[in-house]
Amino acid sequence: MAKQVQNKKNTAATTKKSSNGQASPKSANSRQTGIRRTTQKNNVQKEEAYSSKLEKLFVDMLKDMLWAENHLVTALQKMQQKATTTALQDAFEDHLFATKKHAARLEKVFGMMGKEAEEKKCDAMEGLTKEADAIINETEDGSMTRDAALIIAAQKVEHYEIATYGSLVQLARTMDREDVARLLEKTLWDEEDTDQLLTDIAESDVNPMADEEDAEGEDEDEDEEESGETMGNPRSYADSIGNA
Ligand SMILES: [Fe+2]
Repeated sequence: MAKQVQNKKNTAATTKKSSNGQASPKSANSRQTGIRRTTQKNNVQKEEAYSSKLEKLFVDMLKDMLWAENHLVTALQKMQQKATTTALQDAFEDHLFATKKHAARLEKVFGMMGKEAEEKKCDAMEGLTKEADAIINETEDGSMTRDAALIIAAQKVEHYEIATYGSLVQLARTMDREDVARLLEKTLWDEEDTDQLLTDIAESDVNPMADEEDAEGEDEDEDEEESGETMGNPRSYADSIGNA
């Protein structure tokens, strides 16, 4: 009974509103459409805000990588000059050309995103190339140990690049930019190929030769110690006189 009264009240209220033209069925529909439109607009705004934040992250990463690739051009030239084996020199030279191409590709991606190509200092790449410099300073010219260490330093660089390009490709796909993703994927594959080539050079040539170099070094040390015991080592010589 109470429910019927309530329904009547609601009907009366609706009728009253209809009579003064503020709540006609048409107006109610318009209001509902308005609500739908507002909701849709809010969703679009949310999506735009989301995609612009993601796009900002993406573009920041592009800037980072452009600095990294250009910085690597200089570093690879030095690594190529300081390497001993022809296979490693060639690998660095090839990757030097590839790196220039990667930088050009990044500039193209900036254009596709409607942005100016810009660099932002990449602390990670700076650190990795500093490590390569330290290796060059701490190892002997012409030694296989240096080549083995240069390969490790270069592979650290490649792994950083693989991680970054892999992430960029995924972000591009999330943003529905398949065109950008495919271009960046070419660079990702180049970096993976270089990493594999460096592994092959290390396993087939450089590391075994560095190991032999170590064995030869140990033999020489032993020879020196033996001769030092008899006459080369002043202390041993003095001891031998004292004991005579
Ligand atoms: Fe690269």
